[in-house]
Amino acid sequence: MSAPATDLSAAGTRQAQQARRQILVTSALPYANGQIHIGHLVEYIQTDIWVRALRMHGHEVYYVGADDTHGTPVMLRAEKEGLTPQQLIARVWQEHKRDFDSFGVSFDNYYSTDSEENRVLSESVYLALKDAGLIDTRDIEQAYDPVKNMFLPDRFIKGECPKCGAKDQYGDNCEVCGSTYAPTDLINPYSVVSGATPIRKTSTHHFFRLSDPRCEQFLRGWVSGLAQPEATNKMREWLGDAGESKLADWDISRDAPYFGFEIPGAPGKYFYVWLDAPVGYYASFKNLCEKRGIDFDAWVKPGTKTEQYHFIGKDILYFHTLFWPAMLEFSGHRTPTNVFAHGFLTVDGAKMSKSRGTFITAESYVTSGLNPEWLRYYFAAKLNGTMEDLDLNLEDFQARVNSDLVGKYINIASRAAGFLIKRFDGRVQDGAMDHPLLAQLRDAIPHIAAHYESRDYGRALRQTMELADVVNGYVDTAKPWELAKDPANAVALHEACSVSLEAFRLLSLALKPVLPTLAAGVESFLSIAPLTWADAAKPLSSTTPINAYKHLMTRVDPKQIEALLAANRDSLQATDASAAAPADAKQKSKASKDAPAMANAAPETPDVISIDDFAKIDLRVALIVDCNVVEGSDKLLQLTLDVGEERTRNVFSGIRSAYKPEDLKGKFTVVVANLAPRKMKFGVSEGMVLSASSTNEKAEPGLYIIEPQSGAKPGMKVR
Ligand code: 2FM
Ligand code: ZN
Repeated sequence: MSAPATDLSAAGTRQAQQARRQILVTSALPYANGQIHIGHLVEYIQTDIWVRALRMHGHEVYYVGADDTHGTPVMLRAEKEGLTPQQLIARVWQEHKRDFDSFGVSFDNYYSTDSEENRVLSESVYLALKDAGLIDTRDIEQAYDPVKNMFLPDRFIKGECPKCGAKDQYGDNCEVCGSTYAPTDLINPYSVVSGATPIRKTSTHHFFRLSDPRCEQFLRGWVSGLAQPEATNKMREWLGDAGESKLADWDISRDAPYFGFEIPGAPGKYFYVWLDAPVGYYASFKNLCEKRGIDFDAWVKPGTKTEQYHFIGKDILYFHTLFWPAMLEFSGHRTPTNVFAHGFLTVDGAKMSKSRGTFITAESYVTSGLNPEWLRYYFAAKLNGTMEDLDLNLEDFQARVNSDLVGKYINIASRAAGFLIKRFDGRVQDGAMDHPLLAQLRDAIPHIAAHYESRDYGRALRQTMELADVVNGYVDTAKPWELAKDPANAVALHEACSVSLEAFRLLSLALKPVLPTLAAGVESFLSIAPLTWADAAKPLSSTTPINAYKHLMTRVDPKQIEALLAANRDSLQATDASAAAPADAKQKSKASKDAPAMANAAPETPDVISIDDFAKIDLRVALIVDCNVVEGSDKLLQLTLDVGEERTRNVFSGIRSAYKPEDLKGKFTVVVANLAPRKMKFGVSEGMVLSASSTNEKAEPGLYIIEPQSGAKPGMKVR
């Protein structure tokens, strides 16, 4: 029997019934003055998985990106490197493209905002807004470098903190005491570019009149279509109550010298980088349309049936849910179908840090020998479509990849393929394709595909791994290695191997959006065409023998992680020595700043929080009842804490380098008592002990746990 049983095609029919949609997808455009790091990769991987999952339905999907090339930081970095901005951005483009290719980010077009298409589109958007009466000019006073003859964005002014007096603090906040202020508050301010004392100077700026009632009215309507409740809430906060008109006009011009597009009819004035950056999405798509003969206008005109989605980090929501939709609406374009924002990445529970080696570049990950698909899998497992931050825990990363991908999934193929090749000429038993186990897997595929579409990749992968458990249970019961001992069991052996292999094909289908390279390896191993969702219903057939099994994926080796951290620690000296203008890690991410943020990684300096935010942290005095080393970890100590509850708590803390267990037993400390329990390799940690260390641990090592004054009792609240 080689034809599939009819009921197997139900899932396939359902897929085919989805009409073919036309979908344009973007990820935020990375700045052209820095490297791609794992914080960026959260977003590109998230978008790519979505795009691949939609392509597997057969929809017409275009995924475009570009380098965000304009602005002061690029201009100054080029100058420092003795290059023209064009030379710098050409080099960085190559590096970014290389990194995206390494991680399987499948852009249909990767372009640059410094393109002719973008100039034409940016000018036409601007002129249309002007025609609509939405552009104003106004004189404003700003800091100016009298030596370099240029206006200075806040991040290019340093001085002494007005609160604590710390030297060399940026113009907007102090990294020592954490206070925020205006650049004019700095004591003894100086220009980062020339060292000169900035003066105040007036110039004329162009503004997009977002405060116009038409914009407000439009945005109030548009917000109702946003997919994420967190984004809708943010928008409502920005918009205020009806009639409140909280929206401020947006300054869209900068003075020469500036690397960007000159504003038509305004010599010496340039479009602010954030004006032409989102237009860059369209410029990249237009360039693709020209190459492929697609009708660009049909995709971007109002009323089009096509869909348009932007994946971004939560730090740039403002630009994508206020400015960009309003720019489109009032320049005669369609508006975005949706904007999907994600949270920041932390590594081992903390901000990415150059001194700890956790500011991990995409390039170093690849050159340290780690498989990019491991990271795709790990991020996918943690992504759920919300704006919650996500953590890359390096121990958990190894454990999860090794146990899920290699232990549960890959092993199914390696166990079945050998017998099939040796005993059965590489051909499956067609009758085995009706096995109930396989029906269970096939039925699950449309659900898994739907979880990808709703961006709940974590759920898609949990369901897939549960199915892998079921398949492994089947193999353990069928025991092909036992059956193989007696030739009389040939039919049963053939069935067991055939079921296993078809199950493996279906699991590979479920994982394909996340693991495209692996899936391609599986397709060639099984000698099948590239898998689509509809193929759930098309089982392996005896007419096409499989190929010999070659190893599809190896385990993560802890040495590779060590090499990765070392590589990123080593690069610290090199990058720090060459950093004159703020490196992208230092750039802040507020909507009003000229040097916007390192995308998608937790900013090095936290934003100011309200007292309500602080009140969310339940800090308690704890007595360290017991303290022990953790076998197998040179970093952790295991603490038994009395936090004034009926039972003690178990907490693991990375303080072994600083304390011996006997130093701590009987001492008091402070714990974060309402931290979600964390499952670690050695057990569950039920809180976090507070300790102090330098912001530059490399130059100034040392770790000190916090101890209250005598008299404090277990369970007392710290506030
Ligand atoms: O925040 C950033 O990294 C910006 N370069 C993102 C631009 S996205 C789009 F609007 F171009
Ligand atoms: Zn300070």
